[in-house]
Amino acid sequence: MHILVTGGAGFIGSTLVDTLLMRGHSVDIIDNLSTGSFQNLHDAERHGSSFHFEEIDVCDPAIDVFIKRRRPEVVFHLAAQASVAASLDDPVHDAEINILGSLRVLQATSTHGVRKIVFAASGGTLYGDPPRSALPINETLPHAPTSPYGISKMIILSYLRTYQMVRGLDFTALALANVYGPRQDPHGEAGVVAIFASNLARARRSMIFGDGEQTRDFVYVDDVADAFVRAIEFGSGRVLNIGTGVQTSVNTLYRMLAQAVGSNDEAIHVPPRTGEVLASALDPSEAHVAIGWQPSISVAEGAIRVLAAQSASTNGPWDTIDCTAPNVITGANSPGIVPSNSARPLIRNKEGSDKRYSF
Ligand SMILES: NC(=O)c1ccc[n+]([C@@H]2O[C@H](COP(=O)([O-])OP(=O)(O)OC[C@H]3O[C@@H](n4cnc5c(N)ncnc54)[C@H](O)[C@@H]3O)[C@@H](O)[C@H]2O)c1
Repeated sequence: MHILVTGGAGFIGSTLVDTLLMRGHSVDIIDNLSTGSFQNLHDAERHGSSFHFEEIDVCDPAIDVFIKRRRPEVVFHLAAQASVAASLDDPVHDAEINILGSLRVLQATSTHGVRKIVFAASGGTLYGDPPRSALPINETLPHAPTSPYGISKMIILSYLRTYQMVRGLDFTALALANVYGPRQDPHGEAGVVAIFASNLARARRSMIFGDGEQTRDFVYVDDVADAFVRAIEFGSGRVLNIGTGVQTSVNTLYRMLAQAVGSNDEAIHVPPRTGEVLASALDPSEAHVAIGWQPSISVAEGAIRVLAAQSASTNGPWDTIDCTAPNVITGANSPGIVPSNSARPLIRNKEGSDKRYSF
């Protein structure tokens, strides 16, 4: 199938591109490379003519010409200003990309015969800061975003429904929890796993805002890519939560990573950020029913994969990564995660032998 991925040079987008190419699809990518990078597409480039990249901004009318010329069957729309903090600093810029840019994509998509659009919505901001009793959040909870970013993502859901009604454009919106994995930018605000792993690799102390007991639902990027692929055929007209349903505190996450690499460094606690959501977890039950999706990689296992990727990219600061650290084992048995054998990480130690760790 011929597919377009907007934002395909980014963290999630490039992982999705690799998944699509490996499954035999032909993939077009547009990206303005503002936060993404061509480096993320090195694996994709090896697929030759199945892979086509153009540097285009979604706010540029050239998007219409591109879609008319290339005629993809399905569009994955991930290009976005993806920072909550940046949206608070400059809500107009956020709206220009996330509302007007998305609208250009929708308009071109519905004009030039695209069958379906799959949208990267934000489950972490869509529901605001609900009471702990509402966790894990299911899709019936009212939408109550508290940031311009959350608002702009929510508005696109209304546009999607309208385009489906008025112009017959099919859609699925995936409300993503806190996505993490290799390629995530450790300098961004969202990637706390990437930030901790990068600091540990460089023997730098990590900062934790507040008491560290705030929780997040960390979902591994390969699982997220799998949800997007499933949405090609299923989940018509639906907004679906893509998370694990499991809350992990920032303290637990830090300890898990530090123990796995044998670091005794404590994180430094700094004052909490105003407006930070205190607890978050998304119930993935509906996604299971609608698109047959469920997470397969626990945060414990995913954290090891991030550390392994970090070790490879920084020339191996760790001889071994200890997968038996107590928190790692505890976290691996999270309810709701269905581990698969193929999902076990392969870690190459400095002697060059491969070990497949069992969780
Ligand atoms: N990472 C998460 O935890 C998370 C959670 C919920 C939703 N999302 C959404 O998933 C999508 C991907 O996020 P990510 O974490 O991979 O972020 P990312 O910043 O790595 O990816 C965004 C990509 O879009 C590109 N881009 C930005 N503005 C553009 C524009 N005007 N025109 C063309 N390309 C543009 C960037 O260069 C980048 O490659 C975003 O829509 C984000 O809002 C991410």
